[in-house]
Amino acid sequence: MKNIIVLVSGGGTNLQALIDAQEHGEIQNGKITCVISSSPDAHALRRAEKHGIKSQVLNRKNYQNNQEYTRDLLKLLEAEKADLIVLAGFMIILDKSLIQAYENKIINVHPSLIPSFCGDGFYGLHVHEKALEKGVKLTGATVHFVNEICDGGAIILQKAVEIQNGDTPEILQKRVMEQAEWKILPQAVSLFCQDRLTVIGNHAYIDYKGA
Ligand code: GAR
Repeated sequence: MKNIIVLVSGGGTNLQALIDAQEHGEIQNGKITCVISSSPDAHALRRAEKHGIKSQVLNRKNYQNNQEYTRDLLKLLEAEKADLIVLAGFMIILDKSLIQAYENKIINVHPSLIPSFCGDGFYGLHVHEKALEKGVKLTGATVHFVNEICDGGAIILQKAVEIQNGDTPEILQKRVMEQAEWKILPQAVSLFCQDRLTVIGNHAYIDYKGA
């Protein structure tokens, strides 16, 4: 059974999707053993508490920069014996020391179809603002491994979502979460925990044999 550590910064709806999937037996061979938040005010912490999941706060405000923050985060992850680290709305760019220590063991959910609307400055609502500004007809979500390039790691799963007339960034964000993020994040976590993902170069391959 793999130890899944979920890193959060805000509302935690993706954490909730993982908790729901776990409670429905949809995460095979893995268990959420700890939630770590970069903010003491994150609603995600209350979600963890409600479901009896241990949580810790590593407050970004107490650190000068991401490098120092990552150093302490790395210690916490080692203490928690992390097998898989899930960035579920975690708004801090990790230093390479952590990425190297957990190569192909960190996954992130991003609210667009990478390589569109991703990279530095593309996070949360901004991603949907940019998609609407551009006038694309399709957007969606991507779950990918984390490497040293922001949103540049091997893609595990993607799901498209249609843009509709009258969409605002808020309406679109909600639809992308409901139709894409909350589905593909638990699926990717379960695939990882069953050792059904292989990374070669910058490609992730899924073993469908066990499906
Ligand atoms: C989600 O839409 C997630 O994809 C996005 O932030 C939101 C967090 O919501 N993450 C990024 O933009 C990372 N680049 P949540 O806290 O309710 O899961």
